[in-house]
Amino acid sequence: MEKAQANIRINELRAIIIEANRKYYVENAPTLSDFEFDMLLKELEALEKEHPDLITPDSPTQKVGSDLDQNAGKNKSKEFQQYPHRFPMLSLGNTYDIAEVQAFADRAAKGIGNTFTYSCELKFDGTAICLTYRNGKLFRALTRGDGTVGDDVTENARQIGNIPQQLSGSGWPEEFEIRGEVYMPWAAFDRLNEERELEEEQPFANPRNAASGSLKLIDSNMVANRGLECTLYHMLGEDLPFTTHDEALRKAGEWGLPVSDKRKTCSSIEEIEEFITYWDTERKMLPFATDGIVIKVNELQYQDELGYTAKFPRWAVAYKFKAEQALTRLISIDYQVGRTGAVTPVANLEPVQLSGTIVKRASLHNADQMQSLDIHIGDYVYVEKGGEIIPKITGVELSRRESGVTLPHFPETCPDCGAPLVRDEQEAKAFCPNQSGCPTQIKGKLVHFLSRKAMNVIAGDATIDQLYSKGLVWNVADFYELTKEHLLTLDGWKDRSAERFLKSLKDSKDTPFERVLYALGIRHVGETTAKSLARHFGSIDALMAAGKEQLLGADDIGEVIADSILAFFADEMNCETIDRLKAAGLKFEADEAPEQKSDVLAGKTVVVSGNFSISRDDIKALIVAHGGKAGGSVSGKTAYLLAGEKAGPEKLKKAESLGVKVIGETEFRALIGGEIPGQAGDDETDAGDEERNVGDDGMIVINEEGTLF
Ligand code: IVH
Repeated sequence: MEKAQANIRINELRAIIIEANRKYYVENAPTLSDFEFDMLLKELEALEKEHPDLITPDSPTQKVGSDLDQNAGKNKSKEFQQYPHRFPMLSLGNTYDIAEVQAFADRAAKGIGNTFTYSCELKFDGTAICLTYRNGKLFRALTRGDGTVGDDVTENARQIGNIPQQLSGSGWPEEFEIRGEVYMPWAAFDRLNEERELEEEQPFANPRNAASGSLKLIDSNMVANRGLECTLYHMLGEDLPFTTHDEALRKAGEWGLPVSDKRKTCSSIEEIEEFITYWDTERKMLPFATDGIVIKVNELQYQDELGYTAKFPRWAVAYKFKAEQALTRLISIDYQVGRTGAVTPVANLEPVQLSGTIVKRASLHNADQMQSLDIHIGDYVYVEKGGEIIPKITGVELSRRESGVTLPHFPETCPDCGAPLVRDEQEAKAFCPNQSGCPTQIKGKLVHFLSRKAMNVIAGDATIDQLYSKGLVWNVADFYELTKEHLLTLDGWKDRSAERFLKSLKDSKDTPFERVLYALGIRHVGETTAKSLARHFGSIDALMAAGKEQLLGADDIGEVIADSILAFFADEMNCETIDRLKAAGLKFEADEAPEQKSDVLAGKTVVVSGNFSISRDDIKALIVAHGGKAGGSVSGKTAYLLAGEKAGPEKLKKAESLGVKVIGETEFRALIGGEIPGQAGDDETDAGDEERNVGDDGMIVINEEGTLF
């Protein structure tokens, strides 16, 4: 490519890669698949190789991606303390091509000039961590950061079950570092995303993002419940007493550090290939995500001799597995309107098998993506799951495009109410602005308002549909003006169901402020954000009076959320709704202190694990109401481990080893006097859909048998 042209493309690629890196490492919300990202980076590398004078030190080819949030300080109230890495924390060169593994082996052989071995191991798909042990005790845990400086996440790392605070055995160096990956096993990931969807919080795109987001949680106690695990794969220190990497990891294992047994010492490229082929299939059976195989020169002396480039060790390479893809035909595109008005294109596909499930629908994200894929109705498209719960379309097979395919048109008006759509440039999304007149948005808001984590009123979607279509409820405040007479005009309603519904509405007036705030359905204000706002501002009046600066001062509130809150209260209609809800008696002020029901648990820390007849949050509230403290992880100071169904085996094991008493829900009820408040009863008007699956932006996620969404 000519230099001037190359320069333009280089700048373009750098901008795309830098932004994609930020989305991936800082926001934990990747916009590109790993493969797409790696291909762009390779294109940039090739162009820079062709025109070395265009290389700049800040090019993404010269630096590792950074997980440090450049905006932290500015709009977050908590920053992690940062510390320099003793040894730079680099990344790995990667390839999807076995011939490049061969080339790596050839380069290593040439550099070493002697016989040597390789250590082959899994590439864990999580987030890198660097642990320092001093005198056998966990001293510090740092993230990779920008490779030179990392965020101090020691307190959070202490909450990860398999990271020992104290080494066992003997013979460890006085001080050493051991690096590895913190990851979220599939089971924990699915559970977390289910919870987030119910809470209408953005689900994590994949376990890697979930792990990295969890490791950077501000509240360490929350980390304990995220089910994170760690595997360590690289020991560093001055004069380590080992000759091979394998020996170092074996010793680490003897000291109680979590190392993988899924490694093999290989002597030839054939053996490496065998290992790769085996794990390319077998990895699908693993309880956690792996995205490749890492091949390392095993002898530490040769590692030293080969050294490092600015970004990678020359003694290791990663062979990456391609995400599983399926090719199928695009039948049509639906444009779904969510509760906040966002219009999302969803592809209807010819059913196809992908990683054990049949996929019929896939996400297309937004108009920009449709355009960049140049997608046509009738095209053969590639669908990828790669960790995401909702599969996405990653490409079009142009060689199979037939005549008669048609270009889809992103609607200019709302498919539901016909209002002209507006585009939010920041989020590249189209929105229906008709918040007060668009039926899907209105119903979505009503459903959200009554949902379990919000006002917890026993009503299913069908009930809400009925109330809405009869014109009885249009605004959330209308619920509190319903009478029995109104309800008896609805098909199938009897005295008893009407009374129960009204009682449930009446009971909902005791819902704490933080949940009322969440129930209002302010865009981007999920359950956690609502809690933080309620704690920070104490009342709706204070929140409504807050300017942007003040909003940014609350925990976890950034620009986007602050703007959304300001826009919500700037709308006259929302303020009127709040006035009506206030008049109905809903709580718009935080309780001074949680109501104290007894002090039977005074001075006692209770750790909660597993599932109960009520939510874990409600159980924790009971612990506090009876004078106790809800703890995150089992320690010598824990009074009880309250174990429900599917309680964490690690916690149970730890409780047993420390002699902590394990109790079940029945014993717990007896202890606090048999009371379990806030439990929703059955309702004849509710077809059991109280726990609806509500996705991001309030979109209803349809669960058909064997399909993904
Ligand atoms: S060794 C000097 N071994 O993959 C770099 N890394 O894409 C030494 N990773 O930054 C790293 N599994 O965070 C190594 N078995 C493994 C790994 C592994 C996952 C991560 C690591 C690295 C990234 C590169």
